Amino acid sequence: MRLLSIETSCDETAISVVEATGDFPHATYRVLGNALFSQIDIQREFGGVFPTVAKREHIATIVPILEKAIREANLSRNSTLTAIDESVIESLLAREPGLASDLLTFHREHGIPPIEAIAVTSGPGLEPALWVGINTAKALALMWNVPVIPVDHMEGHILASIFNGSGLAPLSFPAVALLVSGAHTELVLMNEWGQYELIGRTRDDAVGEAFDKVARLLGLPYPGGPEISRRASEARAASLPVYTPLPRPMLHSGDLDFSFSGLKTAVRYAIAEKTLAHEDVSALARDFEDAVVDVLIAKLVKTVEIYGVQSVILGGGVAANKRLRESISALGTTLAFPDLHVHLPSVALSTDNSVMIALAGHAHKSTALSPEAALSLKAYGNKSPREWLPQ
Ligand code: KG4
Ligand code: ZN
Repeated sequence: MRLLSIETSCDETAISVVEATGDFPHATYRVLGNALFSQIDIQREFGGVFPTVAKREHIATIVPILEKAIREANLSRNSTLTAIDESVIESLLAREPGLASDLLTFHREHGIPPIEAIAVTSGPGLEPALWVGINTAKALALMWNVPVIPVDHMEGHILASIFNGSGLAPLSFPAVALLVSGAHTELVLMNEWGQYELIGRTRDDAVGEAFDKVARLLGLPYPGGPEISRRASEARAASLPVYTPLPRPMLHSGDLDFSFSGLKTAVRYAIAEKTLAHEDVSALARDFEDAVVDVLIAKLVKTVEIYGVQSVILGGGVAANKRLRESISALGTTLAFPDLHVHLPSVALSTDNSVMIALAGHAHKSTALSPEAALSLKAYGNKSPREWLPQ
């Protein structure tokens, strides 16, 4: 089957066309078209992601991105358009100014592509941003007469990390996914394919959020993760001494939860009323990164021991972090866990993308909603409980 997948949960507008042959989890996948626009340069001016700005940018770029993905896929098209009631599309997209007319123009020019289903991120994420993708999916489903598969963004991150470019790597169970993104920090246990249980989570800030906030304190631009990582490497290369000893929060909490807001506060105190030289910022970035990675690794090791975990999956935007990747890879080569399989996402699929949404959509193709049933599909925010992830 061929899927169109749409991701707009945060500040990336991403659409892919993916062909799946066979059934999840043994299918082979071909990415036929893949287009992504990152709003990072726009959001940087605001120092973070603003939901209303994100929504406005998604509205402006989603049809050009759709066009790019469809063109790249080079699909044959059926130019005999079925009659569609344009007013239905217009009222569906009443809250996304200009989008209905962009989509209708696209439809007149491109006709109906040979795509069997549309996968779309329905949450978690920024609700105004999610709605742009969801409403686009609903409109395309009506125009093409294909079903919609709602996808959970974090499940997408898990599958992205075991995607080897053509299929999903075999998993030895139990597996645990450490999901670290801008809004989530979670440990998810999998006893078999498609079965997930939330066994640990942050009680306050997510890891990516902590990176972004600490970067801001240090005067580094948004998004802070890559900046901190770069400056931390500089500090290590120059063997800069510790600027300030930072805590390892929740290390001995007796559970698998995390907390990162204290770390941010500790950095704030350490730099209060000080003028920081370039080297001080680098040393602090390294001190912070070390503290975060220590805590993540310690909780992961604990999880491996408690559950007899066979496979570790690292997922989410912070999975692009070099230090974290190296430390997790090293776990699988230590004497303590010689048989542990470690799955890291490619750097390109670490941060938000739509290939992962196609993978998760394919896994859930049996729950596809008809175009009419899809009309009641809703976005769910970052703090909403998720049905697929029992606690
Ligand atoms: O998964 P993602 O792309 O978006 C969300 O779903 O939130 O994650 C974005 C987060 C941001 O907080 C960003 O600073 C962080 O991932 N990030 C990194 C790195 N690259 C991105 N954090 C640490 N090191 C990196 N290299
Ligand atoms: Zn994400």
